[in-house]
Amino acid sequence: MFWEAIMALLLAFLVWAYKALRPPPPLVHGSSGPRIKLRDGRFLSYKEYGVPEERAKYNIILIHGFGSCKHDDAFGQSELVEKLGVHVVAFDRPGYGESDPDPKRSLKSVALDIAELGDELGFGPKFYVVGCSMGGQLVWGCLKYIPHRLAGAALLAPVINYWWPSFPPKLAKTAFRQQFPEDQWASRVARYAPWLVYWWNTQKWFPPNSVIAGRANFSAPDLEILSKLDRSSVDMAYPTQQGVYESLHRDMIVAFGAWEFDPMEIDDPFPDGEGSVHMWQGDQDGLVPVTLQRYIAKKLHWINYHEMQNSGHMFLALKTAQDDVLHSLFA
Ligand SMILES: *[C@@H]1O[C@H](CO)[C@@H](O)[C@H](O)[C@H]1NC(C)=O
Repeated sequence: MFWEAIMALLLAFLVWAYKALRPPPPLVHGSSGPRIKLRDGRFLSYKEYGVPEERAKYNIILIHGFGSCKHDDAFGQSELVEKLGVHVVAFDRPGYGESDPDPKRSLKSVALDIAELGDELGFGPKFYVVGCSMGGQLVWGCLKYIPHRLAGAALLAPVINYWWPSFPPKLAKTAFRQQFPEDQWASRVARYAPWLVYWWNTQKWFPPNSVIAGRANFSAPDLEILSKLDRSSVDMAYPTQQGVYESLHRDMIVAFGAWEFDPMEIDDPFPDGEGSVHMWQGDQDGLVPVTLQRYIAKKLHWINYHEMQNSGHMFLALKTAQDDVLHSLFA
């Protein structure tokens, strides 16, 4: 009798655990704009900004950040885009908005998606990539896997991975320990137990990742920018319409998981100076430690590092910062 009761309890627990840990399948997404079909049959949805392609001198593929999407119109309103002749294409990353999820999503797969997007849109052999925050991190994947397709690149407050081997352990540890405890734990889970990421960030027992919980460590300059943004631009309903797993959670798994390369060992993509790579970072970024970004910039002599004073993580929302980025790429 006793053992039967124990077995029944155990079984009930296993069923509960199986259900709680397993992410639900992605929900059906809409299809409201142009899209391309990728090598494995997935569709990638995109949106165009700036001057029409026929008139464009430069083509940029814009890689959005965590919880964002193709409607993030950075550069879309800039007069400089008209003046310089820049065509910008933003796409919903796989699993976000109206792009099909990619259960095999990796740094390499996203880089290949981007190359295919450039092909389908007739960008020719080379184009520019610009990525912000979590999207900035994906620019490392482009520099690693498709450098021959790049005319130039910009990493804007790119998210770092504390386990990149080239970081001096003490420096990385200090920066890691300065994060909120819940973010340290969420990152550890993404790294060491990716199968637990869904449950960890949806359970109600203790705080999940602070950005997911809407309690990110925004600094004073960020709060000022956010107070001026209209509400719709921080709306997560469109980006996460397929559910949080294939969008947000898979981002965390890719970002903080084990990388197949170390960005600090990437070779100069433009040894003959036919293009340039720029990194922009605010000195008051509460989400991405400036100390680690400085270390990367020092290590990679081919990175043009721009550190902005009194600036946080959200600077790309400012037109002045957008113009600075464009000038750096096309001057
Ligand atoms: C919050 O951001 C500030 C920079 O604005 C940084 O100095 C601090 O370490 C951050 N705190 C946490 C807990 O991440």
